[in-house]
Amino acid sequence: MHSRSKRTWTVLGIETSCDETAAAILQGQAGEPPAILAEVVRSQIDDHIAYGGVVPEIAARAHADLLDRAIAQTLKAATLTPDRLDGIAVTAGPGLIGGVLVGLMTGKALAMAWDVPLLAVNHLEGHALSPRLTVKTEFPYLLLLVSGGHCQLVSVQGLGDYTLLGTTIDDAAGEAFDKTAKLMGLGYPGGPAIERWASRGDPRRFTLPRPLFGQSRPDFSFSGLKTAVRRALDLAVGDGPLTDRLRQDMAASFQSAVADCLTDRTAHAMALYEEGPGYQEGPGYQKEPRAAHKCLVVAGGVAANGFIRSALTALCEEKGYTLVAPPLAYCTDNAAMIALAGLERLARNALSPLDVAPRARWPLEETRLAVPLGESAA
Ligand code: KG4
Ligand code: ZN
Repeated sequence: MHSRSKRTWTVLGIETSCDETAAAILQGQAGEPPAILAEVVRSQIDDHIAYGGVVPEIAARAHADLLDRAIAQTLKAATLTPDRLDGIAVTAGPGLIGGVLVGLMTGKALAMAWDVPLLAVNHLEGHALSPRLTVKTEFPYLLLLVSGGHCQLVSVQGLGDYTLLGTTIDDAAGEAFDKTAKLMGLGYPGGPAIERWASRGDPRRFTLPRPLFGQSRPDFSFSGLKTAVRRALDLAVGDGPLTDRLRQDMAASFQSAVADCLTDRTAHAMALYEEGPGYQEGPGYQKEPRAAHKCLVVAGGVAANGFIRSALTALCEEKGYTLVAPPLAYCTDNAAMIALAGLERLARNALSPLDVAPRARWPLEETRLAVPLGESAA
């Protein structure tokens, strides 16, 4: 029999922590990009659009309506019966608790009914591992996670081995995009809308702040930027209308300010990452040149932004880093990344008990594997 690390696993993933109801089935070995046999992502954007943001109660109900069907569809598309599954990986947090509960209860019920191991996955670990869905990405790497709910810089040293280098002290980057878009009446979700409007605007028209710029601890702050946008707009509009020209120029100025903050904070995180333990030591790393681990992974919905990607590309060129960005479908919330985290955990025999609790808050650093690497891989 193959050891767990060499075995091929088939895993169902379930994701319901925000406003995407998603299921996916992967097949593969630990550490290798898996075959994605099937995936379904049902966005609830239409349910929330009238409110200009995700309404937790509506999201939870929509997950309850959509999830069973999404799972059935993935099994059908993968032409698999449940007895072929080796594990069910489900987001157990962090996120909107109603949605997390729907997913986790469903995952537990299926694990029990089908007699398949359960893997309770941290949503952030899914994002952290998402580049490995399509490209073999060796540990360690520096992760910039920029989504609607999260804005973090993390040193990813291995599965379950994460060090938080910086985080936001108020809003997440995606949240700043969403709130700023709402302010200008550009619709929801705000990120793609701002990027579209910005493409025709002048980024130098408005002078906006770059909060925390230059500070050595790579934290983020975006709420002041949003306030500055409101003030600058009030001044520019006066008694007149908010013209398309103003919207375009403000979208471009805002996007440029966010890009500056992200690249400056990431540059500071690179320095910390290079001092860190995962970068300098660990199995197999010593023999390789240090530059081999100069790798920045950008994940989360905001990583879909082309302007921000090019700013990060320029930073990486300057610092000698390789930039890895998952394909857009895996930058935003999806179940394939949850299934991948589950597959990796399954290969380490890090199974979850059926009474595992959902968590609205769950820092990535609290996902350490209970079983040491050497013992679990056998
Ligand atoms: O990762 P994600 O799908 O969900 C969360 O876990 O939050 O990220 C959604 C966030 C939203 O705030 C959305 O406005 C932002 O990502 N986003 C973008 C772009 N596309 C999505 N932000 C900037 N530019 C984009 N093109
Ligand atoms: Zn997410």
